[in-house]
Amino acid sequence: MKLKSLIAAGVLLASSPLMAKDHQVDIEFNVSNAGPVIDKDIYGQFAEHLGRGIYEGVWVGEDSDIPNTRGFRNDVLNALKEIKVPLVRWPGGCFADEYHWREGIGPRNERPVKVNTHWGGVEEPNTFGTHEFFEFVELLGADAYVNGNLGSGSVREMAEWVEYMTGEKGSTLANERRANGREEPFEIAYFGIGNEAWGCGGHMRPEYYSDLYKQYATFLKTPHGKKPKFVASGGHSEDTTWTDVLSANIEQNIDGISYHYYTLPSGDWDAKGRAINFTEDEWLATMNRTYKIDGYIRDNVAVLEKNDPDGDVKLYVDEWGTWYDPEPERDPGFLYQQNTLRDAVVAAVNFNIFHKYAERVTMTNIAQMVNVLQAMILTDKEKMVLTPTYHTYGMYKVFQDATSIPFEIETGNYGSGDKSVPAVTASVARGTDGKLYLALVNLDPKNGASIDLDVDGAKLTKAVGHILTANELDARNTFAAPEQLQPAAFEASLKDFDIPAKSVVVVELK
Ligand code: AHR
Repeated sequence: MKLKSLIAAGVLLASSPLMAKDHQVDIEFNVSNAGPVIDKDIYGQFAEHLGRGIYEGVWVGEDSDIPNTRGFRNDVLNALKEIKVPLVRWPGGCFADEYHWREGIGPRNERPVKVNTHWGGVEEPNTFGTHEFFEFVELLGADAYVNGNLGSGSVREMAEWVEYMTGEKGSTLANERRANGREEPFEIAYFGIGNEAWGCGGHMRPEYYSDLYKQYATFLKTPHGKKPKFVASGGHSEDTTWTDVLSANIEQNIDGISYHYYTLPSGDWDAKGRAINFTEDEWLATMNRTYKIDGYIRDNVAVLEKNDPDGDVKLYVDEWGTWYDPEPERDPGFLYQQNTLRDAVVAAVNFNIFHKYAERVTMTNIAQMVNVLQAMILTDKEKMVLTPTYHTYGMYKVFQDATSIPFEIETGNYGSGDKSVPAVTASVARGTDGKLYLALVNLDPKNGASIDLDVDGAKLTKAVGHILTANELDARNTFAAPEQLQPAAFEASLKDFDIPAKSVVVVELK
């Protein structure tokens, strides 16, 4: 039986002799060793007022024919609950530095209509505002990451928004929130002070931004015990200057510095590469570019170790994911793209890297949640598709708040020369349920891998879990065929077993 039929049959037996065994991978660990906890917020999401991310994707309004709960689409809510989204960042992105919170409160039909000048020049009705955002995260059971406007706002505007959201006393602002239907203060887990200050957030120098940050952060007052984690807007890609200057200059009122990295197959913003119908060279280029984040995080963490040896300031990768050329028939300002097996592999590669740096990297947000860039979910009117990336999040949810277990891995490489990455990457952790989990991702689209586990401290006989793989490089779910690519059951006897080419595997070891 071919791999496809095994998957179709529902169970992939990893001992199948038909599978290729080109990469020999040795993994060694002791189950009694414990590394840092993998913060659940590493699995955070980003939802910006961009394209059909919020409107249509999340919010359809109470009068919509699409089944909804107080305006939020039920299908999307249920799907997101299933993968246990821990945190949502809103309202941007670049949009955050153009957002004026007062325009998004009060009766919806009285809110001003603006033009979303950054994303597509479309009308922004402001029907999804502060109250809708908190209702959304509360329905999901997620925490809130609110990003304030430093670029075109003022200290006063930001301070008043924080008071409006968190005020407990009878201040006019807290009473205004109550009059708008919310008695209890909102809980903010993270508050971002500006976004991409080096670019759309104001084209600033890090020295100037860090002074502004200190000024803004000073005036963001919350009731005792309710202070969110404050996020300074940092650098991106290979740059470490922002992390360096910010961590050296900002001595207080800071919990983390953000960092952004997008995976463009070509690395060229003018011709990024295709979301579907790509070649194996483009697959390799994508893996090569996504894997670069390992070195970039390592370098930023080294800077933090130098300036903040106590480890108080975290590195928040609050935007990451694939970014392809827009589909020809779609509005280029909407950043809508299809999502394939390649995106699932990219997500798993990134998770394994974030786990490795779990001591400093305690929060990340994939860009973005619905209908934008590397989305979990695509919608078309009443239809919804769960992407391969969604399924990777579902498989990896056992790693939320798990305790990592340090391990050694020896693997061959996929690719050559300046485009070469480890063929297989992994994570090992003890879940909050006490179970032992192993994640594996095979980046090589042609060759399978033979995994040899050398485990101390426990007698393990089986690996049981799920696999995501397919024959085609760009296997995907579409509105016409929404369940083409789904996790299949995976079972193997230990200690040696095989995984196929281009696959993501998450198993419990028992
Ligand atoms: O996620 C899309 C955009 O990418 C965000 O608005 C911005 O912060 C980044 O440049």
